[in-house]
Amino acid sequence: MATVIKETKVNKTDSWTPEKVLEMRKRLLLPSTMTYHSQPLLIRRASMQYVYDEKDKKYLDAFAGVVTISVGHCHPELVKKAQAQMETFDHSTTLYLYPQIVEMAEKLIERVKPANPALEVCFFTNSGCEANELAAIIAKNHTKRHEFIALRHSFHGRTLMAMAMTGQSIWRHSTPYVFGVYHAPADYTYRRPEGLTPQQYTRVCADEVENVIKYSTSGQIAAYIAEPISGFGGVIDPGPEYFPRVYEHVKKAGGLFISDEVQTGVGRTGKHFLGIQHWGVKPDMVTMAKGIGNGYPLGALVTTREVAASMEGKTHFNTFGGNPVAMTVGGAVLDILKKERLTENAEKVGGKLIAGLRKLQERYECVGDVRGRGLMIGVEIVKDKKSKEPAPQTTLKLMDLAKDNGVLIGKGGMAGNVLRIKPPLCVTAEDADWIIDALDKALKKV
Ligand SMILES: Cc1ncc(COP(=O)(O)O)c(C=O)c1O
Repeated sequence: MATVIKETKVNKTDSWTPEKVLEMRKRLLLPSTMTYHSQPLLIRRASMQYVYDEKDKKYLDAFAGVVTISVGHCHPELVKKAQAQMETFDHSTTLYLYPQIVEMAEKLIERVKPANPALEVCFFTNSGCEANELAAIIAKNHTKRHEFIALRHSFHGRTLMAMAMTGQSIWRHSTPYVFGVYHAPADYTYRRPEGLTPQQYTRVCADEVENVIKYSTSGQIAAYIAEPISGFGGVIDPGPEYFPRVYEHVKKAGGLFISDEVQTGVGRTGKHFLGIQHWGVKPDMVTMAKGIGNGYPLGALVTTREVAASMEGKTHFNTFGGNPVAMTVGGAVLDILKKERLTENAEKVGGKLIAGLRKLQERYECVGDVRGRGLMIGVEIVKDKKSKEPAPQTTLKLMDLAKDNGVLIGKGGMAGNVLRIKPPLCVTAEDADWIIDALDKALKKV
């Protein structure tokens, strides 16, 4: 059944302008508050895959509020359920009993079990970094060890442990870090050393995990953490052998395997609910946020009963985590995902988008690489195909021009030269054409 969208209109006579909001942001918010565009967009309303500015101009939100809108902005079924929950019972904490938290836990466990049938215990947080912090705490409690392996180019959040696990200097601006985190190279096929095939480089990178364990740690680790496909790192999509080989090394060193599914979860990569399922390894812990709440503050950790047992007798609590409204929203996201077959849609529309982008790659010298799965797509922009020199200024120009053509795109990568196309999972084939057309026009101009 088609989703019935209630159309609202922007009040064009109100006094909010982009200039006024920007001036107030500069005056009232931390100076680190950033925007990508030279003329930032003022959003006044949103509906499914679209957002509207103060003049009611329509944009395709092909970055989904940083990979967060999964089922669509203001999805009517979600809004109805969340509103009803807010009017009935809004908050209490887990000190009291309410069914919404166990209902959501049951639904989420059902969705992650195909990745590992032993994943059967949840904890809810408000964000991805909280979920990753907790994963690290549980890994330490369970293994009685304190050393972690993470990946270069990775991103795991902005709290101290999450920053320490993150493998990009631009996101590691606070000292001192949590010690004991060591970074192995990511299987970045496009930038592999000359002379190596993608398969050979995959093996080199996977075996570097073993080397880092051997040379930089005590030899036994608490855990290895990775995003199956990197988000902020620029959509680095490892080869098929990468995670199975890493898994062996991690298990040999007694570590847990943590899959950070904050961006790759909730069907975004197509075919599967979780990104790690494409590689067939069984994670001991999965962390989620962003798409699971469709814009509401909701994070989750799912682990095995054996690993969770290390938290027995410990006081651990989260004031907002698992509150009835967030649980209702999360449950609605999972219901809509299934009912509207959005994982299948991500695969179908994502496939069309990737094919269209590859055609642009053939025609334009600055399109170095097109990669990703489902609706998690990266386009690496370079000065020319031979040198592969990153072109961050061209990337910014392309984003501005795409915006002028009504398409919002994000960026990432260490050099800021990877366009990130990650729209809500409800986008259509026509939307894919719109993205390709907007980028084609933008590429012609640069
Ligand atoms: C892969 C990944 N992990 C963790 C986080 C942290 O999530 P949050 O911003 O909800 O703390 C993010 C995004 O910010 C992310 O992209």
